[in-house]
Amino acid sequence: MELNEAIAKRRSVRNFKNQPLPDGTVEKLIDAARIAPSAGNLQVCEYVAVSKPETKQALSAAAGGQIQVAQASVVIVVCVNQKPLKNMEAEALTFTVFWMRGQQLKT
Ligand SMILES: Cc1cc2nc3c(=O)[nH]c(=O)nc-3n(C[C@H](O)[C@H](O)[C@H](O)COP(=O)(O)O)c2cc1C
Repeated sequence: MELNEAIAKRRSVRNFKNQPLPDGTVEKLIDAARIAPSAGNLQVCEYVAVSKPETKQALSAAAGGQIQVAQASVVIVVCVNQKPLKNMEAEALTFTVFWMRGQQLKT
């Protein structure tokens, strides 16, 4: 399938068959997600694959009662590790201050 066709045909799926995923599928999905670019290459996303029914049920409730979250055989929770971001915020702030000073010098 061509890239444009894949983009045009993409849809959200909210109904899942109650069957386990083939071996290696979760790993493949997480591998694809983790090579995505990130700001400053900080790679703050961490992925947790959840298959335990009670945990999926809790996630479903936390997502406002979305049934499909409990129904999926595996739910991948994307977490953000905020630690590197805190440093980046400080850097971004410093950069902004320098940039603003630069602008002031120009005017
Ligand atoms: C940031 C974001 C959050 C979303 N959250 C949910 C969600 O919690 N539950 C859900 O069923 N769909 C969610 N969606 C999917 C959108 O509802 C869906 O993309 C939109 O209705 C368009 O439908 P389509 O994806 O089939 O084109 C989310 C989409 C985005 C971009």
